[in-house]
Amino acid sequence: MQNFETFLLENLPHSVSIHPTYEKALQAMLIAGGKRFRPALLLGVVSAYNSLMLESARHAAYAIELLHTYSLIHDDLPAMDDSPLRRGKPTLHVLYDEVTAILVGDALNTYAFEVLSKAPFSDATRVELIRELASNGGLNGMVLGQAIDCYFENKPLKLDEIKILHTNKTAKLIAASLKMGALIIGNEVLGEKLYDFGIKLGLLFQIQDDILDVTQTSSEAGKLTNNDENKNSFVTILGLEEAMREANLLADALLNELHSFDENLQSELSPLLTQYINRHK
Ligand code: IPE
Ligand code: IPE
Ligand code: MG
Ligand code: MG
Ligand code: MG
Repeated sequence: MQNFETFLLENLPHSVSIHPTYEKALQAMLIAGGKRFRPALLLGVVSAYNSLMLESARHAAYAIELLHTYSLIHDDLPAMDDSPLRRGKPTLHVLYDEVTAILVGDALNTYAFEVLSKAPFSDATRVELIRELASNGGLNGMVLGQAIDCYFENKPLKLDEIKILHTNKTAKLIAASLKMGALIIGNEVLGEKLYDFGIKLGLLFQIQDDILDVTQTSSEAGKLTNNDENKNSFVTILGLEEAMREANLLADALLNELHSFDENLQSELSPLLTQYINRHK
């Protein structure tokens, strides 16, 4: 991922204007770091099948990270989760103000699609990638998930409804990251299979995030923890023990399912999955 970090730093959003802090604010949360899990998934798929395409694929991986980073900035706003800490740094509405956090989120969201529109792929692939990121990150994906998440605060949902919430909020973007890797190497069939796998992986990722909310301190997590009490998190609804059980079941199922993929893909994805699949334990 070292190459990805370099790429990101070389392609940070720029804006030269009379605004004294806008450009710094645009860059702050990107530079702050994060696991870069979604870029790693996309690049893992490309690397398994065509490492010559890795350089171009970084544009698409970056676009996903831009959209994801915007979602975190808005997620932390007072109207949403009201969090002062993200990626170990003060959130933008704390460091600057709410207006800045809202507008930087908007800017990173649209910049993601600007990056994709200029990425070095065929026109057809560019359109596919734009569509994939938009449909999973937008109105019937992450944004819908966030809307459900916030609307149903203090209104407990049933388990199948929580799965709908988390599939939209988190799993679709993770599934899209894998699928976009497959689209870049021109394998749509693999893309569909990876998308299904990614939905389960994304659900696990959110269950783990919910578990870590109660098991980690804010400084360990680099973000405010113990912040899900009013949410339909897996832990608030199922309890910690049952959430752990659900996470273990999903992790085992995913490791098994990984064996149904080509060996080159298994060896690219398995270090990444092993690193994250047990992070709740
Ligand atoms: C946090 O995502 C929000 C969720 C969807 C759970 P990450 O856990 O990937 O956050 P970063 O990118 O590492 O900061
Ligand atoms: C947010 O889920 C998912 C997003 C789409 C950003 P959370 O609200 O649980 O994420 P954290 O715990 O603040 O990172
Ligand atoms: Mg949230
Ligand atoms: Mg949050
Ligand atoms: Mg969380």
